[in-house]
This record gives sequence, C-alpha cells and structure tokens, in this order.
Amino acid sequence: MTHALTPSLNLPNTPVLITGGASGIGYACAQALAAVGRPVAIWDINGDRAAEAAKNIHADFGVATHAEAIDLRELAGYSDSIDKTRKALGPIGGLVHAAGIVDQASVDGITEESWAAGIDTHLRPLAILVRDLLPDFSAQPHSAVVAITSINATLGNAVNPIYSAAKGGMLSLVRSMADRLAHDGIRINSVSPGQILTPMMQPAVDHLPDGYFEKRILLERLGAPEEIGRVVRFLLSTEASYLTAAEIVVDGGNISSQRG
Ligand SMILES: NC(=O)c1ccc[n+]([C@@H]2O[C@H](COP(=O)([O-])OP(=O)(O)OC[C@H]3O[C@@H](n4cnc5c(N)ncnc54)[C@H](O)[C@@H]3O)[C@@H](O)[C@H]2O)c1
Repeated sequence: MTHALTPSLNLPNTPVLITGGASGIGYACAQALAAVGRPVAIWDINGDRAAEAAKNIHADFGVATHAEAIDLRELAGYSDSIDKTRKALGPIGGLVHAAGIVDQASVDGITEESWAAGIDTHLRPLAILVRDLLPDFSAQPHSAVVAITSINATLGNAVNPIYSAAKGGMLSLVRSMADRLAHDGIRINSVSPGQILTPMMQPAVDHLPDGYFEKRILLERLGAPEEIGRVVRFLLSTEASYLTAAEIVVDGGNISSQRG
C-alpha cells in the first residue's frame, strides 16, 4: 500500500469544536470524531445537555472533551467561549457548525424576531466562528470546517422560508470562504442532510402520516444521525484532502427522487 492510501480518518488529531453538539446530528459528529481519537468541544445553548454529552463521550471514547453553554445568536459570548475551549483542549483544528432551529410559519408568519433568530443561528455563526478561529486553523496543518446545511437549501418548501434562506446562504458562504481559506491550507465543505431522525425531526414524523417522508426517498427510510457523523468525520480528515467548497448531499436519494 502506498503512503497515500493508508487510512487516515484519525488525522489530523487536533480538537474539533462542534456547535449544537448536545443533540442529534451534532452529537453524532462528536461521537464519530471521538471514536477515532479526536478531542471534541461541545458548544450548545443547552448547557446541561452539553455537559452530559461531553461527559458521556469522554467515558465512551477516552478523548479529552469540553462543554460550553452558549447562545450562538449572541456574539458577545464568542470570545470567552473560544478562550475557555482553547484552554481546555489546546488550539482548535476543526469546526462543525450543526446548531439549528426551524421556522414553521411560512412567509405569512415571518417576524423580525424569527428572521433574526434563523439567520443568527445558522448563517452568521459560520462566518464569525471561522473568522475567530482562523489563527488556530492556520497554525495547524490540515485544519478543516464542515457546515451542516440542508436539502431545504435546494428544495422549495413553503413551510420554512427563513431556514431555507439561511441554509442557502451557508452554501454560498462556504464557497466564498473556501477561496480565502485555501490560502492557508484550510478546507471547508457543506453537508446537506435529508430527513434524519433526531429530536428536531421527531415531531414532524409523529405528526405526519406513516411513510410520508419515506415514499420519496430512494432508500425508503429516514437517515440516522451517525450516517451524517461518518461523512463529517471523513471531511475533517486527510482522507478528504482534495475536497473543498463542495456540498455533499447525504439524503438517501431525496433531492434526486421523482417518487412520491
Ligand atoms: N434532522 C434533520 O432531518 C436535518 C436535516 C437537514 C439539516 N439538519 C440540520 O442539522 C443540524 C442539527 O439538527 P438536528 O436534527 O440534530 O437537531 P437537534 O435539535 O437534535 O440539535 C440541534 C442542536 O442545536 C442547539 N441549538 C439551537 N439553537 C442554538 C443556539 N442559538 N446556540 C447554540 N446551540 C443551539 C440545540 O440546543 C440542539 O442541541 C441543524 O443545523 C439542522 O438544521 C437536520
């Protein structure tokens, strides 16, 4: 086997900061990274759940972990949380922005507050965190970023215009930042999940008729959070060394489907 084909999902071995890491997809990303030995920082608005997640991941995988209670809509808290994360784990070499909320009031129900909440949870933190972590990323070889976007960035869904716009903005922001970050050897990509069974998704599954989502999906089932975690882990590793500015759609064949 040539050196270039040696499996390297565990490289680089630098700490990864995961927003929304206390639940669902973010938590699965943290577990997947910890499973190959990467230290993880769990940032979440729910501080108790973040602390619990960090504790469990440390117990299950033996890696160093850190938890931060932070509301990403409030920029004032970023600097302190970054300092505390660096102090706990050392310089950061990866970022997964997975925190998220969904609006459900369609365009008729948009308010100033709901618009700000959607944009300030999904889109703005991606730019600000990359800006603030740039010194860490630049100083360490093979640093990388993954933005968790959504198939709703591409599909037209009347229910959640703010979410769709924020996720679409993230796709564009990733492509713009990829150009800048490449100068420092840093890669950045988007992962767009389809319907993944998480606490965010569960109410819709409970509310809608059986098989509502499945009938459109080529693989005929919802995804599991770990199926996103494994793709994110790959993108943050040197296995993905020539991937940047890309959108990886992980939807079991949803966007591409004509069923339903
Ligand atoms: N579940 C799906 O089907 C699906 C599909 C496409 C995209 N996504 C995206 O995946 C990401 C994770 O979603 P999930 O399904 O795991 O949901 P989830 O509700 O299980 O997890 C989201 C996490 O984000 C945290 N969070 C919310 N607002 C925050 C804030 N202001 N500051 C800090 N943390 C905050 C929540 O506390 C929660 O722990 C989201 O960005 C979501 O849009 C999910």
